[in-house]
Amino acid sequence: MPAFTLNDAEIAYIDRGNGPNLVLLHGFPLDNRVWNDAIDFLENKFRVIAPDLRGFGRSVSNQTFSVESLADDIHQLLASIGALPCFLGGLSMGGYVALAFVKKYLSDLRGLALIDTKAASDSPEAKQGRQQMIDLVRDAGSKAIADQMFPKMIALQSVNSVAAQKLRSIMDACPPLTIEHALAAMRDRADYTALLPMLTIPILIVVGAEDAIASPDVARAMHAAAPGSSVAVIPEAGHMAPLENPRAFADAMIAELITHRG
Ligand code: MLT
Repeated sequence: MPAFTLNDAEIAYIDRGNGPNLVLLHGFPLDNRVWNDAIDFLENKFRVIAPDLRGFGRSVSNQTFSVESLADDIHQLLASIGALPCFLGGLSMGGYVALAFVKKYLSDLRGLALIDTKAASDSPEAKQGRQQMIDLVRDAGSKAIADQMFPKMIALQSVNSVAAQKLRSIMDACPPLTIEHALAAMRDRADYTALLPMLTIPILIVVGAEDAIASPDVARAMHAAAPGSSVAVIPEAGHMAPLENPRAFADAMIAELITHRG
């Protein structure tokens, strides 16, 4: 996997296929392997770039980060490998980073996909929950975080699937320090709800029909707030729609991208 060197980090990324640039940002506590199956269906039509955000997967960094600084990392990477302008998709935490990217680098975007994610910031209760998870990862490590999160990540029918096994092994492998940094970054992220009505780029909102973390109702509310957006509900999928049902996810992305490719 190629890697791009920043001042204080190395960013590994998948770069597959040919066509318009499609950039995919993974969620928490994950890495770019969540996209592999979907990329099999996308790479015939698009150049797909899927980075490991700093500290995740094969990207190397011990530094703290914010959602905004992750967006800056991605912008530097994409500028250096000639992948702008792009269509940008973010899964859950990756969606928070995508929204930060939209706010700062709108003119570099052809469109946006918000996947199993939300535009709102954390409630006071959610912020407290982040702090408890920071304490947990310090005391008990990454597997304790995976134990807590895993049941909410996928639809019930996916629990014994190959995708579920893959998800669990990715979660278990996420470095504890990265988990801590990401929890703080998500806790402190801005609220991007007010951004949605102002956007004129094409927006696709994708949600697993059984997403227990960013529900179809949350997706429909974002759709209502973003003029001209469309929404795709992915069947037989929970919070990890691209991993649980990669074919339906890829079909939704291809339909959207083809509509707006000009
Ligand atoms: C994710 O899947 O990236 C997380 O569920 C996001 C979050 O905890 O807010």
